[in-house]
Amino acid sequence: MFIVHTVSELRQLLQLAHRQKKTIGLVPTMGALHAGHLSLVQACKTQCTLTVVSIFVNPTQFNNPEDLRNYPRTLKNDSALLQANGVEILFAPGEHEIYPEPDTRLFDFGALEQVMEGKFRPGHFNGVAQAVSRLFTIVQPGYAFFGEKDFQQLAIIRALAMQMDEKPVIVGCPIVRENDGLAMSSRNTLLSERQREHAPLIAATLMQAKEKACTLPVEEMKKWVAATINADSELEVEYIEIADEKNLQPVKQWPHDTPARLFAAVYAHPVRLIDNIRLS
Ligand code: PAF
Repeated sequence: MFIVHTVSELRQLLQLAHRQKKTIGLVPTMGALHAGHLSLVQACKTQCTLTVVSIFVNPTQFNNPEDLRNYPRTLKNDSALLQANGVEILFAPGEHEIYPEPDTRLFDFGALEQVMEGKFRPGHFNGVAQAVSRLFTIVQPGYAFFGEKDFQQLAIIRALAMQMDEKPVIVGCPIVRENDGLAMSSRNTLLSERQREHAPLIAATLMQAKEKACTLPVEEMKKWVAATINADSELEVEYIEIADEKNLQPVKQWPHDTPARLFAAVYAHPVRLIDNIRLS
């Protein structure tokens, strides 16, 4: 595996790959890799002939400086995992490589960014779009792989790809869960032992809600999910939403014509966890 830290080194490696007509797949990450990331790598390796994984903790997508400071950074372990999983290139740039100058671009994703993560983390998706668009321009992948745990991010990145000249195919991959149901996340490592024991209640409640779906009116269902999670001393709900899977706008009532998802953002203070599940 090649490990490169600069855009020029990466471009040199990719020039040859482009000439050899390799299908380049990109798995953008912020590191602290877990089995969820490795499932993206596996999907990439199945569909592409060259897998590039990027590790860049993107400062512009953090609206909370403490969150950025605390974000786990485990490059040595990450590179060993990627090597063992057959990745050809690891791109781990410094901030100056991605942002040689401050990035002042403002993206417009319309209604997609007005709800849920976009509403509760102002500026977050603009920062994601800045980093991901830079990575797309640098790598020029045919395919790029993202997890459905960040379901709204996936929708935003599909919209971003449509706005770019070279449009990679965006592949969404299913959420990978721990044995107790907790959605895998780099942030799980920041949970205390007690919080880690309580956190699976989030997924368990979403799964129970799926069983109840359509038997409870939408608003009652959201209230029930929030109350069930909030009853746990370690957890505090930021939002619960039921939204249309395509446009992410809140579903008001059943029946709903197109698939809907239940979304949760929950604090195990100061760690923020998100999860979602398809309802229909
Ligand atoms: O999901 C992530 O890890 C990040 O938001 C991403 C897509 C790598 C952009 O920085």
